Amino acid sequence: MRAFFERVRVKLALATVWKVPSNKAAAIRGFQATEADGVWHLHRAIARIDDPKIRAILFTHSLEEESHAEEFSHTYQLYTSDRIPPATYERKDLTAGNEPIWKVLAYVHVGEEDATARFGYIADGLGDEPLKRSLAKIVDDEAGHVDLTDHLLRSLGAQPADVRREYRRVRLARFWEDWLRNSKRVVDTVAAVLLSIAYFALAPLATLSARRRLEDRYVEFDNNRVKQIA
Ligand SMILES: [Fe+2]
Ligand SMILES: [Fe+2]
Repeated sequence: MRAFFERVRVKLALATVWKVPSNKAAAIRGFQATEADGVWHLHRAIARIDDPKIRAILFTHSLEEESHAEEFSHTYQLYTSDRIPPATYERKDLTAGNEPIWKVLAYVHVGEEDATARFGYIADGLGDEPLKRSLAKIVDDEAGHVDLTDHLLRSLGAQPADVRREYRRVRLARFWEDWLRNSKRVVDTVAAVLLSIAYFALAPLATLSARRRLEDRYVEFDNNRVKQIA
């Protein structure tokens, strides 16, 4: 069901918003920032893990996320002549500091699953273009990260029932964040449309009134009124 809605959402975006090149570039910019942010989260996780093997694996994982961020930066420039703007990273830990470290990897795992699905659907819906080629490369890595993170959090001692419960919790939390983000976007769009309508409805009236005043050679202005207000 989730996959179906995601596929429909991607199709709709490709058929509407993404038809505008600047919107497509902005979306690529978003992907770049998310990948770069992933590197930060992985390094935060590495700092809390003692096992050198797991630290090394996560470091390699972070290098792949870094290369995805670079790939998206490069692809961004192929869709716009604007320079890539600086990102505003949240830099907020995925779990509270006292939670077991495997829970961070559970969060990363769910993010990897979502990224694999979303990038795959976008690549399927695009014609032969640079973004499709970039996504094809990245999707392979992301699919590997899905299995890797699941394996790692179990090596850190997480029990299968706890892992399943945590995946469900993370998915719900991400769904809620997504809902809030999209609702804000809808409210912003509706507000912009209403303001535009008000502006375009009032502008002709204001123009008429200004024209009428300018018909006289002198524009009357009561200076004393200004003095009274002061
Ligand atoms: Fe990635
Ligand atoms: Fe990844």
